Amino acid sequence: MIKLTHVTKEYPKRGFALRDVSFHLKKGEFAFLTGHSGSGKSTTLRLIHMADKPTDGEVRVTGYSSERITERDLWKVRRRVGYVFQDFRLLPGRTALENVAFVLEVTDTPQKAIRPKAQRLLSQVGLAPKIGAYVNELSGGEQQRVAIARALANDPYVLLADEPTGNLDERATRGIMELFRDINAKGMAVLMATHDLELIKRHPTARVFELDNGSLVYDSETAETDAPRSTPAAERLGSD
Ligand SMILES: Nc1ncnc2c1ncn2[C@@H]1O[C@H](COP(=O)(O)OP(=O)(O)OP(=O)(O)O)[C@@H](O)[C@H]1O
Ligand SMILES: [Mg+2]
Repeated sequence: MIKLTHVTKEYPKRGFALRDVSFHLKKGEFAFLTGHSGSGKSTTLRLIHMADKPTDGEVRVTGYSSERITERDLWKVRRRVGYVFQDFRLLPGRTALENVAFVLEVTDTPQKAIRPKAQRLLSQVGLAPKIGAYVNELSGGEQQRVAIARALANDPYVLLADEPTGNLDERATRGIMELFRDINAKGMAVLMATHDLELIKRHPTARVFELDNGSLVYDSETAETDAPRSTPAAERLGSD
């Protein structure tokens, strides 16, 4: 469903953010993308979101290729890839409901269906009681849930989340992880970037990708067959 083949991303003057990265995320999979700060996690998510193009190699998302995609199809794909930004990027001074309704308004959702759908999405993420609250009056964990509801608005194939628990305490983190597992249990693939290896350890059935300085150094699915490597994730997860 999401396939990276020899993907390299080079930023002018800054050098390589990704180097020859290949992996295949299948339909309905739950995966973590880990690695140190600057290892290329956000860059990988941005390429899958087709917000940016690789310098070399190919990104395929549900049949569309980064090499051949037209401007029109680009928007189609981007709509079906839910993206939760680390800094939420909610509209301040608007309510939770308005934030979710906004993305439905810019797509082809019939006017009458917008409010009920936004309400349903917010209930799904456990925010029914806060539907009318201004987002700037919500806690970090609650704002994160609004961002997740918004990312789910266009029935995406996959949910990409960039450090979604980075600013949350233990309890809120657990809540967000439960929500992701529920979403995943309904068949949606989830790819979550995190540097938190303890969190990954608590989800032993999830797939794990690890980046180091732009290279993919570990994939839990192929770890047994590959030459043993000692990477932080592999060591912490006890699979080497
Ligand atoms: N728009 C950009 N222009 C130039 N360089 C960039 C850009 N975005 C990222 N980079 C560089 O690419 C590398 C990878 O960055 P990226 O944001 O993907 O890392 P990350 O793993 O998400 O890090 P973090 O854990 O800190 O969020 C870094 O060296 C960064 O400086
Ligand atoms: Mg990042």
